[in-house]
Amino acid sequence: MHLDLVVLPDLVVWPVRTGRRRLSFQTLPAESTFHPATLPSRRPLLRRYATPYRLYGAAMELTDVLRRRRMYRSFTDEAVDDHVLDSILRSAVRAPSAGFTQGVDLLVLTTPEARARFWSLASEESWRAGEHAPGLLAAPVVVVPIADPDAYAARYGEPDKAGSGLAGRSPDKWPVPYWTVDASFVVMQLLLAVTDGALGALFFRLHGDSGALLEGLGAPRHRSVVGAVAIGHPACGGPGASAATRPRRPVAEVVHREHW
Ligand SMILES: Cc1cc2nc3c(=O)[nH]c(=O)nc-3n(C[C@H](O)[C@H](O)[C@H](O)COP(=O)(O)O)c2cc1C
Repeated sequence: MHLDLVVLPDLVVWPVRTGRRRLSFQTLPAESTFHPATLPSRRPLLRRYATPYRLYGAAMELTDVLRRRRMYRSFTDEAVDDHVLDSILRSAVRAPSAGFTQGVDLLVLTTPEARARFWSLASEESWRAGEHAPGLLAAPVVVVPIADPDAYAARYGEPDKAGSGLAGRSPDKWPVPYWTVDASFVVMQLLLAVTDGALGALFFRLHGDSGALLEGLGAPRHRSVVGAVAIGHPACGGPGASAATRPRRPVAEVVHREHW
């Protein structure tokens, strides 16, 4: 049996039999959990072959997303579709968070003015004048994850977290800074969603004073920034920087089973 798939934004797409006029589709919010088996089709074969596809990229297997993810350091100036960006951001905010504090905000910069302000605060002039800068500066989206250590301190002062031993500790005394862990999870989820959306991204560290950066971007000065993510359409593929010169460690070397 031959099936065509029709792709529409924010629609889960039903298979259509070639040669027939009938088309069925159903709108679902982007964050819906969807499985073909839930299709209310009376035809088991249609249920079996139906796959949810979204505009700008066929749904990829998670394993493919994990394997395809790479850091890209050069982008075209083609804009990222708003719909795709929204979907990526919705995925990112579903990252786990300690105590479900959800203490990480995302500052999303898309206008040339906002991005120029960001780069002037987060990078050095000598780098901006260098040969590698234009490719990265072209990225049409920059996302800055901004974590709030005080939100974690407050959350772990609540009664249900009394057993954590973290109540009353100032953020600099935490054995593991959960806000950094959570911001890292958000970044990872963002990178995977970018890959799934057939775009490229680079996570990079920021140069300069983070307080000045936050203030310059209108964010509270005392918050914590782990880095930023540039997103766009990759101008060139393949591994860059360190990944081009260092081999990936073999799984057998990295994984220690039962004891070291
Ligand atoms: C904490 C962290 C900081 C990074 N900072 C930079 C950076 O400042 N500039 C850069 O080009 N890449 C940066 N990277 C990307 C790494 O170089 C890259 O992830 C690594 O070489 C592996 O390549 P891959 O991600 O393409 O597999 C950073 C990655 C991490 C996790």
